[in-house]
Amino acid sequence: MHLRASVLLGLTIGLAAPLAAQTGKTDGSIGDPQLDAKVNAILSRMTLEEKVGQLMQYASDDHPTGPATKEDVLGKIRAGLCGSMLNVTGAAYSKTLQEVAVHQSRLGVPLLFGYDVIHGYRTIFPINLGQAASWDLAAIENSDRVAAREATSAGVHWTFAPMVDIARDPRWGRMSEGSGEDTFLGSAIARARVHGFQGDHLGGIDTMLACAKHFAAYGAAQAGRDYFTTEVSERTLREVYLPPFHAAVEAGVSTLMAAFNDLDGTPASANPFLLDQVLRKEWGFSGFVVSDWASIKQLEDHGVASSPREAARLAFTAGVDMDMANQLYYPQLLGLVKDGVIPAERVDVSARRILAAKAKLGLLDDPFRFNDPAREKAELLKPANLEAARDLARRSFVLLKNEGHALPLKKTAKVALIGALADSQIDLLGTWRARGETTDAITIRKGLSDVYGSRLTYARGCGVQPNDREDFAAAKAAAEKADVVVAVVGESWDMTGEGHSRSNLDLPGEQTELLAELHRTGKPVVVVLMCGRALTLEKVLPLADAVMVAWIPGTMGGPAVADVLTGDYNPSGKLPVTFPRNVGQVPIFYNSKSSGRPQPEGPREQYKSNYIDVANSPLFPFGYGLSYTHFRYSQLRVNRAKLPADGTLEVTVTLENRGDYDGEETAQLYTRQLFGSVTRPVRELKGFQQVFLKKGEQRDVTFTVKATDLAFWRADMTYGTEPGSFEVFVGGNSDANLSEVFELAAN
Ligand code: NOJ
Repeated sequence: MHLRASVLLGLTIGLAAPLAAQTGKTDGSIGDPQLDAKVNAILSRMTLEEKVGQLMQYASDDHPTGPATKEDVLGKIRAGLCGSMLNVTGAAYSKTLQEVAVHQSRLGVPLLFGYDVIHGYRTIFPINLGQAASWDLAAIENSDRVAAREATSAGVHWTFAPMVDIARDPRWGRMSEGSGEDTFLGSAIARARVHGFQGDHLGGIDTMLACAKHFAAYGAAQAGRDYFTTEVSERTLREVYLPPFHAAVEAGVSTLMAAFNDLDGTPASANPFLLDQVLRKEWGFSGFVVSDWASIKQLEDHGVASSPREAARLAFTAGVDMDMANQLYYPQLLGLVKDGVIPAERVDVSARRILAAKAKLGLLDDPFRFNDPAREKAELLKPANLEAARDLARRSFVLLKNEGHALPLKKTAKVALIGALADSQIDLLGTWRARGETTDAITIRKGLSDVYGSRLTYARGCGVQPNDREDFAAAKAAAEKADVVVAVVGESWDMTGEGHSRSNLDLPGEQTELLAELHRTGKPVVVVLMCGRALTLEKVLPLADAVMVAWIPGTMGGPAVADVLTGDYNPSGKLPVTFPRNVGQVPIFYNSKSSGRPQPEGPREQYKSNYIDVANSPLFPFGYGLSYTHFRYSQLRVNRAKLPADGTLEVTVTLENRGDYDGEETAQLYTRQLFGSVTRPVRELKGFQQVFLKKGEQRDVTFTVKATDLAFWRADMTYGTEPGSFEVFVGGNSDANLSEVFELAAN
């Protein structure tokens, strides 16, 4: 087993070096006299038209032969009426547009190029949900560092990432783009990602603006339907959905994107509570806010704006600074200012915020600093980038079942590899693959055949479509001749992501039937599950000896799967989302409330169940994941029974590797406040540590919990702690059963 040699104890939380917090200035100034002077000098020479022009973002059209830009957009750039473009990439191509802005417009203000760099630019890392399953903040941060180096070398200044939406409903297709269901993990990842993209500070040629999105509660869409209405209480909003945004703001994120959804009657893109009260007044955010694609225009469809002018007014006055692909701020704001509805100074503020971002990137001094094709050529797909993608992929895989030591596979075994997904390149890249090329991706078939050579036989079996059974017989024949079957099943790349919600979370098409056929051969069946969300696996489990979730693993997915299946890497991932038993349990998440009739699991005669046809518990809880070795937790202890209101508690557990392999475990700490002025979740993640232990090794792992970590939104909607009894749990998943009690003292 070759595993990361370093000891990871205690390294993970808060790993990212602190960035300069927000300046707290909401007039758009940066607080750096030199930069502010440059920005103000430009602003003072601008007409109202040009200022509104800075607020406009237009899209470039992708063309089969490369990117293209409509002549009317070029005209706008020349006229100084375009502040930003999206989907413009390539050092050379973006330079041609920048030249138009700099050399052909009156004031020569450079453009800002934004792009969805979500899980890599050319080197594609696992989808974000998979990355979250690694719980490895350093590796996640590094993936965005790599993405920023690649993207900036290709002329991109600004990524529409990280997506920090909490997702508790796997029907929602965009669960794949975020960090899962938990606020604590999601906030830690939000910080790591902002730091990954923006570095310690902006101004270098390999750092870029980040954008926390979609503000806010987009992931709470009713019934998991994308873009759909959300009904979230202010308490749940503040406790569950907002903290990852707050974490991103505190980490210095430069921009935020307003969400599509209606939130409690006021669409997020026209929501002054979110965009002004919380974001500016409470958090002191000093960057700028961009709309989502056409989300201002859609205020008419929501039924809150009766005209384009009204839509522009609502979004702008609520706090959306930049218009992404609505084509509304220009010209509507001109009329609104002229008619005295919107003060001209308000336009100055938004324009200043956008110019400030350009200044921070160094574009006002050197608009072409991101346009070096030689650097682009050297940066994309560098061996170190590919190695980072491979490493994060294998860290993301979650082992759900491993009976009879089905895994790791012997390297001398005869392996039957089955499934269309095993031989597909595009399915490794997933949604938002930026400039990832399908042909760069190394398939699972290739990854395994590099290890097994002629001992590997491949049969397609089936793909993801219904009635696709022609290759069943060949798959069965291959299985019969092999020692072990590896079946790669799950979702194709386009079954998750924006606008790709599902109402059924079983394996699509005939894949469950295929597994049944393979199981009937009597050969051990190892299932490698590709998916962009939690799936319902009740039918799959009895047909498989081992199940490993590989998510959508990226360019290096094939070698990474081979590393883990063969035992060159011992799986260490843990679920960032609860896996339900069936879709009727959804939404299901670990940190629910107790209810007045808490119902433990057990036979129905003994305990009433809330359902008559399914247990309350999930199939696999949040935080769950096996290893080839076995970790034992024991002797949970706290260093004090009473925690002072301004003090810290040390919680120690003994962790022992009792199996046959070296391995890494993510130890998780949860708390429960037993009584509060409002009901409290049955468990809340408050810490985690990644610990590497050699076989037979044992170590004490100590967590530090600050009293202030126990704060919440109390009955009177103030944020703080309440004295009283708490329980603390430590273990390998959210069902951890080692526990201790402590008291939080009054102030
Ligand atoms: C719409 C998506 O919701 C958003 O996440 C993305 O950044 C924009 N389109 C731009 O592509």
